[in-house]
Amino acid sequence: MKGSNRINRAWRLGKRPQGEIKDSDLELKENEIPIPTNNQVLARTIYFSLDPTNRIWMSDIDQYMEPVEIGDVMRAGGSIAVVEESKAPGIEPGDIVQGGMYGGWQEYFLMPGEEVIKVPVVEGLPLTTFLSVLGFTGPTAYFGLLDIGKPKAGETVVVSAAAGAVGSIACQIAKIKGCNVVGIVGNDEKCHWLKADLGIDTAINYRTENVLDSLKKACPNGIDIYFENVGGDILDAALTLMNNYGRIPVCGLISMYNNWDNPGPKMFRNILMKRLTVQGFLVSDFLHKYEESIEDLGKWISEGRIQFKVDVVKGIENAPAAVSKLFTGENTGKLIIQTSEEPK
Ligand SMILES: NC(=O)c1ccc[n+]([C@@H]2O[C@H](COP(=O)([O-])OP(=O)(O)OC[C@H]3O[C@@H](n4cnc5c(N)ncnc54)[C@H](OP(=O)(O)O)[C@@H]3O)[C@@H](O)[C@H]2O)c1
Repeated sequence: MKGSNRINRAWRLGKRPQGEIKDSDLELKENEIPIPTNNQVLARTIYFSLDPTNRIWMSDIDQYMEPVEIGDVMRAGGSIAVVEESKAPGIEPGDIVQGGMYGGWQEYFLMPGEEVIKVPVVEGLPLTTFLSVLGFTGPTAYFGLLDIGKPKAGETVVVSAAAGAVGSIACQIAKIKGCNVVGIVGNDEKCHWLKADLGIDTAINYRTENVLDSLKKACPNGIDIYFENVGGDILDAALTLMNNYGRIPVCGLISMYNNWDNPGPKMFRNILMKRLTVQGFLVSDFLHKYEESIEDLGKWISEGRIQFKVDVVKGIENAPAAVSKLFTGENTGKLIIQTSEEPK
């Protein structure tokens, strides 16, 4: 079980994508599994998260953290791993841990003992919950909607990418807060899930409907909060219908990640006319309140008021093809790669 005769596979960035991510932009490379030394642990990845921001990190643009360099292991938004060897006090083989910045798109990695955060093993909660609703996508929805959106009962909340990992949770929190909730998604199955299972008021299929017309029908009193995940034409439709003093938490702009040449919203003027608050945010801006979000989300899950889906793709070799699902809309809920089995 030492590193010298076992192989680690890791996806490394081979070249920066032009437009959509292609398999050939990444290279699956092998190296010897590293051996932990003083105070290090060797962890085997079980799951890693695939996120729209992987595409941002592949680009050499000014962004919220350093881009992934050519030749580096692809960064993951999060991972869950099991400790195989430990030279660190208090950490034992078999412990389930978060990969943090040490994980990435790879099968094995070393991390310093003092950086280890153990993942709780909770009866009835799959481990993937800690990469999704109780990882960082749930808190993203929570802080964006509650701290920036500040919903009041009776207000109208519109959410784009509404059946995704963040969007589906934002929709449900808005319902819990007593709002009229409208979700915008890319197919009828997602519309059905949002309405029939998550109980949101209206779901709009942006591929088959005129979004502005459908929003006008679904929001007869205008829009108070637009939870922005996509940008582009959907942002313009929402901006058109915003009420005075409306709020737009800008969580993501996925329609632009493959091409930043978009000239920006045509209805920018409504930020002035309607005195809107438009605020970009990262979930990490709210780390100081992370526990609060986990407590509330955990409570709502246990009460059956929040449901969530995970979309698990098996096999590290499938990661580049799988990440594209985020851009074609083939995922529902949190997209995750499974690289090895959970310990029994
Ligand atoms: N600020 C933060 O801290 C933070 C943290 C996590 C995520 N985010 C952002 O939140 C957004 C959602 O992320 P997620 O992880 O929850 O992913 P997700 O919603 O589970 O997956 C992305 C979804 O976006 C939709 N989409 C893709 N391209 C689109 C386009 N051109 N126009 C409209 N919709 C499109 C697709 O759904 P359809 O089938 O509905 O098209 C797809 O399923 C992303 O913009 C992401 O960057 C931000």
